Amino acid sequence: MAFSYKNGELHCEDVPVKEIAEKIGTPFYLYSYSELKKGVSAYTKALNATGGIVCYAVKANSNLAVLRAIFKEGAGADIVSGGELFRALRAGVDPKKVVFAGVGKTEKEMAYALRAGILMFNVESEEELEVLNEVAKSEGKKAPIAIRVNPDVDPQTHPYISTGLKESKFGIDIEESIKVYEKANNMENIEVLGVHCHIGSQITSISPFVDAAQRVFALIDRLKEAGITLKFMDIGGGIGITYKNETPPSPEELVNAIKDECARRGVKLIMEPGRSIVGNAGIFVTKILYVKKKAEKTFYIVDGAMNDLARPALYNAYHEIKPVREHTTGRIVADVVGPICETGDFLARKRELPLLKRGELLAVMSAGAYGFTMSSNYNSRPRVPEVMVNRDQWFVVRERESYEDLVRGEKIPEFLME
Ligand code: LLP
Repeated sequence: MAFSYKNGELHCEDVPVKEIAEKIGTPFYLYSYSELKKGVSAYTKALNATGGIVCYAVKANSNLAVLRAIFKEGAGADIVSGGELFRALRAGVDPKKVVFAGVGKTEKEMAYALRAGILMFNVESEEELEVLNEVAKSEGKKAPIAIRVNPDVDPQTHPYISTGLKESKFGIDIEESIKVYEKANNMENIEVLGVHCHIGSQITSISPFVDAAQRVFALIDRLKEAGITLKFMDIGGGIGITYKNETPPSPEELVNAIKDECARRGVKLIMEPGRSIVGNAGIFVTKILYVKKKAEKTFYIVDGAMNDLARPALYNAYHEIKPVREHTTGRIVADVVGPICETGDFLARKRELPLLKRGELLAVMSAGAYGFTMSSNYNSRPRVPEVMVNRDQWFVVRERESYEDLVRGEKIPEFLME
């Protein structure tokens, strides 16, 4: 376990969380290097045997040190913007292991990715395909592509993070995709390489993935009959993690369920995991500023807020909360809330927690994915530092922002200065 109590103090690997808090203050994100490695290797082990590729979904956590740790283990990247490509390249990704998804790629981003020599663009519409062909032509290149198809399966997850249903903005309907493939195949500056689908995130059973894969296999077969042979099948990301008591499948289970069908068709499998690599490798550490008792409720008012960790406010997501100093006696039901001026600013509601005092530290668990990357400066709160632990050593991998950082790039025009 990357995060566990030793002598009554929560540790990340061999470092007491308290020690870091004392040195750099709170709040902050804290990542375990060994847990990150474990997360990647669960995928690389399962996929390497099949000749497949792990393309880590950079959106889940894009800190350069985190990316570097993941790429060092042999993974590539799934990116959705020029900014993510920039980060991935800066962290030393192999461009030949980069896939580029997203419904709104700009021409500038396409040109950037073409110059970088990425593995493939996951194209999401016919118009995008036409634009990509043009951009590739002006760059004197052939753009390698997969078409993102919409398998129309219900992943039984939160509606905001379901992406493979017919009514969603993502991908092209499977039926319609055949004619788009034919069109792509005849385009001068396009090279058809594969098929892509992504049905959603935090999926905790294997069947929606297998259903989606079956539909994609049927498409691969139909395309073959039409003379279009694919090399890659990218089944997206989405394996869930344990936030509370979920029991998600392992990467190996999923790969085993579909690898033979892939081999039979000669397609290599690509997976784009995000959350399942970094989610449980990170926590968010915050301090109790005030204990506020009202007639109805007790509030632990902490220095971390919805701008730092948006998931509870945005999806009503559950994150376990542990005291950094282990408490065994005295329980209370409390809301853990931040200083932001919004009722939705909470990290937990009606949560049974130990009786704690002002100044004590809390660890918000499973915060490594979609934590820092979704943070903002709302209420002019500087973004928090990120720290990585390797055994008994720790490293600040992103500094706390300063007030100067908050106003960087802002200007008051001359006419307002009079
Ligand atoms: N590939 C594509 C095309 C995606 O859209 C996503 C996530 C992934 C891979 C990675 O999925 P994962 O393995 O992390 O489930 N902010 C939300 C999650 C949004 C996911 C968006 N797409 C949250 O905090 O739950």
